[in-house]
Amino acid sequence: MLIIASSNGAIGIERAMWTLKNGGSALDAVEIGIRAVEANPEEHSVGYNGYPNILGELELDASIMDGRTLNSGAVALMRGFPYAISVARQVMERELPHVLLAGAGAERFAHEIGAEKWEPMLRDEIKAVWRERLAASSESNDIPELTDESPLLEWVRLATDPERVRGTVNFIAIDSAGDIAAGVSTSGWAWKYPGRIGDSPIIGAGNYADNRHGACACTGMGEMAIRAGTARSLVLYLKIGLSLQEAARRAMLDLRDLGGAYIGGMNLIALDREGKHIGMSSRSGGRYIYQTEDMDAFQESEREVVTIPMRWAGEARK
Ligand code: GLY
Repeated sequence: MLIIASSNGAIGIERAMWTLKNGGSALDAVEIGIRAVEANPEEHSVGYNGYPNILGELELDASIMDGRTLNSGAVALMRGFPYAISVARQVMERELPHVLLAGAGAERFAHEIGAEKWEPMLRDEIKAVWRERLAASSESNDIPELTDESPLLEWVRLATDPERVRGTVNFIAIDSAGDIAAGVSTSGWAWKYPGRIGDSPIIGAGNYADNRHGACACTGMGEMAIRAGTARSLVLYLKIGLSLQEAARRAMLDLRDLGGAYIGGMNLIALDREGKHIGMSSRSGGRYIYQTEDMDAFQESEREVVTIPMRWAGEARK
């Protein structure tokens, strides 16, 4: 049994391992671990205390994938329901012939299945950071009145803050039956354009699990993982016989080769069906965490670095 997670999963990994040790499945462990992060008030990139979009609305994305069946469930742009990972799992498990529900449909589904609702989702401290960011982006230092009719393109560009745009949680587990599951949850980029969906709820981009080969989950600038199909690519590299390290390196190199503007880095965690695990990042200093059934506490491990040069909009590769 093994669980790997992004470092912000520290709050949930031990209870996720407890779940595995007590007969829970890999899917149970992933859901329980991520719920702990979604409920963590210190966490501003996942769950109820995440940073909002440019209009001050919190929109959550999440996905979960069952490596035994390749079934998946995901939600995007969901407002008012903090446990996005649990709603995503229900999309997968209920009698519903869909994988991804977004916006009002996701909220309707969450309501219909009785998912926990928290109102209001945007706490005062987060509102204050959002207002401060808007004021800092305004020439007059005034907070603009943003309505449904406001032009937002310029505001999103001005308010983008590389220190705050990133953040997501990844969990991947292997249970006692050898089944693999992977889950991802996020509030997405801070100050994003309303309706923006990142890689976290996109199966194949931010999340992929297949018992026969392994699993991968991503954090960082989701636009890049969507364009490179990162999580699926890594698993496909495993499928064609590459080692875990080489598969992860190739997936990172695919990201590096993308053109366009990169205002955030990319990170991934991955494991193979033998239980080898790895983390990679486009910047140095990154870590991920892991725990096996014989460990009382999780350990940290350094992510290997594959540098991806940052490019801003004006410097995009032609
Ligand atoms: N990686 C999370 C996002 O881009 O939304």
